Amino acid sequence: MVDHPHNKKTIDLVPDHVAVIMDGNGRWAQKLGKERKEGHQEGMEAIRRVTVRASQRGVKVLTLYAFSTENWKRPPQEVKFLMQLPVTFFDRFVPELQENNVKVNMIGFRKNVPGPTRKSIEKAIDQTKDNTGMILNFAFNYGGRAEIIEATKSVIDKVLSGELNKKEVTEETLQAELLTNSIAPYDNVDLLIRSSGEQRLSNFLLWQNAYSEFYFSKLYWPDFTGDIFDEALLDYQSRSRRYGAI
Ligand code: FPP
Repeated sequence: MVDHPHNKKTIDLVPDHVAVIMDGNGRWAQKLGKERKEGHQEGMEAIRRVTVRASQRGVKVLTLYAFSTENWKRPPQEVKFLMQLPVTFFDRFVPELQENNVKVNMIGFRKNVPGPTRKSIEKAIDQTKDNTGMILNFAFNYGGRAEIIEATKSVIDKVLSGELNKKEVTEETLQAELLTNSIAPYDNVDLLIRSSGEQRLSNFLLWQNAYSEFYFSKLYWPDFTGDIFDEALLDYQSRSRRYGAI
């Protein structure tokens, strides 16, 4: 049980898997007359705050939507900048992740990610591989539909090779082929947070969000804080999850 600083309510039901759509970096910058880049820079600080708070609260996996398969459609300059972010982030923050016993993971399609970006993520994964605390899971070059298609192809290969028979194609065997198998047993999202006032899923963890609770904040991502994260946790514990039952 953790005392909540704001309103004395207590967080005693912590979701295992929290996933975040970190939206509004660009609008935050625009609001202040700054360049979009600066919004993404400040977005990294918000990642830092939320990672530390989530880990203190006992979240098992924090998945962050950092770059979607659709984000390649942005202007080349912005794509280039976004590809640089993991390099900057891990250069600066790996020591803090170590102090917090946080283990880095990535879900997404590694091909197409430029070498230096991929290497910086792989290096952080390697540096933190023995940590036993929260998993900080970056969805990078991630798309939900593409993930399901790739998993389907893997299942088909297994059926064709005789490793699985058709009757064994179940939710469990398909789920085992999804990218989130790397965070099993916490594949499914418990709480989904989206910032900036938008209320849509944007191809994020389509399968894994089947029964998640949604929390929307009007704040732009760079304004997101540990205390707002606590608000989301408090809201979550007031929900009644029935998974289709009554
Ligand atoms: C959404 O804001 C944010 C992104 C597309 C990128 C988020 C990435 C980070 C905060 C840093 C990533 C860091 C690592 C370590 C991978 P937007 O640009 O869509 O904002 P807008 O909707 O206001 O334009």
